Formats: sequence, structure tokens, C-alpha cells
Amino acid sequence: MEREKVKIPNIQKKKNSQKITMLTAYDYPMAKLVDQAGIDIILVGDSLGMVVLGYDSTLPVTMDDMIRHTQAVRRGTEYALLVGDMPYKSYDTETNAVKNAERFMKDAGCDAVKLEGGTESLAAARAILKAGIPVMGHLGLTPQSVEKLGGYKVQGKTPEAAKVIIDDAKKLEKVGCFSIVLECIPSEIARIITSELKVPTIGIGAGVDCDGQVLVINDMVGLFDRFVPKFVKQYIKLSAQIVDGIKAYKREVEDGSFPTKEHEFKIKTEELKKI
Ligand code: KIV
Repeated sequence: MEREKVKIPNIQKKKNSQKITMLTAYDYPMAKLVDQAGIDIILVGDSLGMVVLGYDSTLPVTMDDMIRHTQAVRRGTEYALLVGDMPYKSYDTETNAVKNAERFMKDAGCDAVKLEGGTESLAAARAILKAGIPVMGHLGLTPQSVEKLGGYKVQGKTPEAAKVIIDDAKKLEKVGCFSIVLECIPSEIARIITSELKVPTIGIGAGVDCDGQVLVINDMVGLFDRFVPKFVKQYIKLSAQIVDGIKAYKREVEDGSFPTKEHEFKIKTEELKKI
């Protein structure tokens, strides 16, 4: 069957019938691989700051960083729905929210944007949606609020905190978000939200009952080992394989076994004689 480009209605139709798959990507080669593997949604996450740019948090990531990387991911993405993650302070006012969401769409070719937060982000989400741009919400552990949350901790563990997340999910749905990421919340709370919403939930550290799952690509392929969160499964350990390859290259350069004749270029003998 011929593969078709994933659109938002395809994602929404999957609720209650098929799980939704989502992964991050930050550059052209990884986007090509993720797309080739048939993943539904590629998120250019602001996790870029930690797993690619080497910062300690996502807070220093700028709109220019996001646009540059999203453009590269766009060039490598043929089928997946492409979502750009709005970085810290890029949606602090409604004007900024619309201006920056438009950059993701017009300058980087996104299909939608994602923003973090519940009640506090509703006005921004509403303004972006009014401008005709689809929005994905993000609740629970929202890394841009790491200071306020007191660290990278599981959220919604008390009845009061859980109720806030459930209410926020309903508010985001009501305002028009097409899907909501639930990060690091108890699986029981994610199950309640998933069953009470019409739009799909995408979980990360939120249990198996969400409508879909997302992971940071560098975590799942073992390319980021500063720490490995409990909710991550490393399907391969690329760092170790890359280091092995680099060590073999170093050894062969040092002992003269690379390059060999098959890697060389030649000049004709009569041309050489003229030099
Ligand atoms: O920035 C990111 O990669 C994210 C995902 C973890 C959902 O927001």
C-alpha cells in the first residue's frame, strides 16, 4: 500500500483503534531514519538544548535554535506529521505566541506546534489556534517549569495535583488542542485523562494506557547517557558502537592500514611526469 503523509485527522482517528507513535529528531539524517521507520509524528523538541546543544536544561534554547534544527528535520521528513516545540519564553504573551508559532509554520514548514502548561498557557494556545495553527498541549512534568516544579519529578501524585492536571487536560481540549503530551505522571492518572478526553494523549513516563507514546530519540538509541530516566527504554546503544568505530579508525590511521588502495585517487603516469 502506498504510504501517505500523516495529517492531524489521521492522528485523531487512531484514538481507541491504534497506538500513535512519536519520536523527537533534531537534524536531517535522524529525521530521515525516523520517517523511514514509519513513525507517525516527529517532534523537534526543545530537549534539543540538553541532548544536542549540551545545556543543563531546555531553558537556554532560542527560537533561532529551534528554527534552524526544524528546517533540517523538515528536509528529512516526507511522511510524518512535523511538530515544532515552542521554546521557553516564546509564548509568554499572545503576540509572541502567534509570531513565533507562525515562524515554525512559515520558516520551518511545521504542521503544528507544541507548548507546555495548562491554565497558564491557555491564552497563548487560544491565540495560536485562532491564527489557524494546530496546537499540541503538554502537561505533567513540563521541563520549562523545572525551577517551579522543584526538579525533574513525577507530577500529579496527590489528589489535588492530579485534579489540576486532569482539569488542565480538559481545558486544553476545550480550547482546541488536537492532542496532549502527558509527561511523568502516574499511569492511573494518565488512564483517567485518556478515557475522559476525545483528543489523543501521548505519554512519556505516563504508562501504557495513553493513546500513544513519545521518547527522545537520543535516549532510546543510547546517544545520551548523562542520565537515563526510568521511563526510557534503550533499544540500541549507539554511543558504544560509535566509540568502537572511532577507536578502530584511530588504530588503523596510526598503524597505516587505512587508507588502502581502494580509497585512493590516481593520476595518469604521463600527466605525473609533466609535474
Ligand atoms: O522536548 C521534548 O523532547 C519534549 C518531549 C519529551 C515530549 O517535549
